[in-house]
Amino acid sequence: EMAGGGTCTALWFLFRLVSCQQNMPLPPCDSEIYCTGQLLHHVQTAKLFNDDKHFVDMKLKEHPDVVLSAFQNLSQDWPSNAIPPSTLRDFVGLYFDEPGLEFEPWTPPDWKDNPKLLGRIEDPALAGWAAKLNQLWKSLGRKIRQEVRDHPELYSLIPTPHPLVVPGGRFRELYYWDSYWVVNGLLLSEMTTTARGMIQNLLYLVDTYGFVPNGGRVYYERRSQPPFLTLMVESYYQATQDQAFLRGALPTLDKEYSFWMQNRSLTLHNHTLNRHHVPVGSPRPESYTDDLELKQLLWEELKAGAESGWDFSSRWYRAAPPGQTPSLGDTGASQVLPVDLNALLCRNERTLASFHRLLGDAEAAAGYERAAAVRQQAMEALMWDERRGAWFDFSLLADATRTQFHPSNLAPLWAQCFSAPAMAERALLYLQESGALRFPNGVPASLQDSGQQWDYPNAWPPLQHMLIEGTHSHRAHTICIYIYVIAKKLAFDLAQNWIRTNWRAFDEYDAMFEKYDVNGDGKPGGGGEYDVQLGFGWTNGVVLQLLDLYGDRLTAGGLSGTTTSSLPLLLCLLLVTLQ
Ligand SMILES: *[C@@H]1O[C@H](CO)[C@@H](O)[C@H](O)[C@H]1NC(C)=O
Ligand SMILES: *[C@@H]1O[C@H](CO)[C@@H](O)[C@H](O)[C@H]1NC(C)=O
Ligand SMILES: *[C@@H]1O[C@H](CO)[C@@H](O)[C@H](O)[C@H]1NC(C)=O
Repeated sequence: EMAGGGTCTALWFLFRLVSCQQNMPLPPCDSEIYCTGQLLHHVQTAKLFNDDKHFVDMKLKEHPDVVLSAFQNLSQDWPSNAIPPSTLRDFVGLYFDEPGLEFEPWTPPDWKDNPKLLGRIEDPALAGWAAKLNQLWKSLGRKIRQEVRDHPELYSLIPTPHPLVVPGGRFRELYYWDSYWVVNGLLLSEMTTTARGMIQNLLYLVDTYGFVPNGGRVYYERRSQPPFLTLMVESYYQATQDQAFLRGALPTLDKEYSFWMQNRSLTLHNHTLNRHHVPVGSPRPESYTDDLELKQLLWEELKAGAESGWDFSSRWYRAAPPGQTPSLGDTGASQVLPVDLNALLCRNERTLASFHRLLGDAEAAAGYERAAAVRQQAMEALMWDERRGAWFDFSLLADATRTQFHPSNLAPLWAQCFSAPAMAERALLYLQESGALRFPNGVPASLQDSGQQWDYPNAWPPLQHMLIEGTHSHRAHTICIYIYVIAKKLAFDLAQNWIRTNWRAFDEYDAMFEKYDVNGDGKPGGGGEYDVQLGFGWTNGVVLQLLDLYGDRLTAGGLSGTTTSSLPLLLCLLLVTLQ
């Protein structure tokens, strides 16, 4: 009932082959080389490259039909699928070029030596560092060669119309939610043309696919990532006041919003909320135990996990059988209504309302306002935990919230999506009591050390930024100004510690990383499926944003205590409650 596919389920015994076959999971894309097929299977299972991503980023030297036919011939020479790895390696060398050939050398023409932000940073060490981060845009900028547009069949890259800024390392294409912090950073570096090009690429993807794929490769075609495009347009509009651009973009933003509401929503207990879900094929009956089908089911769940941006995390684990510890194989990301996704959509709804109002469409504005109000109510009905004083992901399997700590539990503060000021105060107390503030290097993605990268001990730039902005945006409450002071102080302290972590790691490794370890003295994070990556788009963007917010106060070596005695907070809350 949750995910449709009724025919296949109901007639399963009778028509297992006939009616379920047509519901076989869709491949990640239609390419028989980059997304599906025997060649891919052989190369990846032979582990010719350390990173599976290497092969699918390689360029074809011949038309795919020629390569597939040659591979067919090779397979015939080696019956029973026993192509020796060295033969396979030679084949790949003959028909594929190394990754990275999609781009030509490019320096963003709007790059500026000395953006005003640099002058607003008091600490000379931090100002010098910010100047180096500003330089990094030049090494992360990419321009797609004309050859890719002329022969897209030879590449897995999706040729978007404008140059782009990549995260860095193995991430050599654009990424959806990363781009939000990249765009914010570019705007602070006064690179408005490059920022606009980034946004136009994403708008192009919505116009082409109906939503923004996870990233700019064909193998990302069937899943999205947290929908930040509307907020990118907002950042751009705030920086430029370019109303014509807003008017041009708005229909596409409306279209993306419809995708999330039509294809990623779910009604439960009379409330409609959103989840990550990559519906490829139909859900299987509970008793279905065939290995292959199980893998397909897990495959869908892993894709839903990837769509969340948190790939992977104990946050998405189902409960394991008694006595067992859940692991990656227990990922059930589509069975969770995530707090942060819904907070983000709530903020999108209010932002879209403001865009429509600005451009004179009062009716559309009212529609979005209503949607935000209804969502806020739904979030408070299903996710808000009055006793614990925070929002929690709602598990469809348990029909209840999951009470583990994640920074995303505070996302409604960042989105300003809650009905009573006291909820923000409760949430602040929850954060204080959660145990997540005791690490000097940042707030970890969870308190569980699962070995996955979106878990302890890793701290991620976007999560720090949302937490800091959420705490910083706390509004003064007349009864208890003390909480307001504490919130502002906490936001600054989190920013100070994060800057110190990034700064120390930069000092030591001469690099910016995608994530950091909450322990140690400023070092990159680890775990997960690939080595930690340098670059790094969103990390640089977040640092520039924090320097913009607190440039007059931050210091390179400063370390702040983030925990406060809860007693005054509790007294404050009591006052607020008694009011
Ligand atoms: C595959 O083999 C057929 C028959 O021997 C041959 O005509 C064709 O050119 C071969 N294809 C490639 C790409 O080598
Ligand atoms: C959204 O779902 C509808 C069916 O409900 C489907 O026709 C459409 O292709 C889906 N859109 C995307 C972009 O997946
Ligand atoms: C379900 O929600 C609708 C609109 O939000 C409301 O009119 C209706 O009474 C609700 N039904 C139940 C059973 O709560």
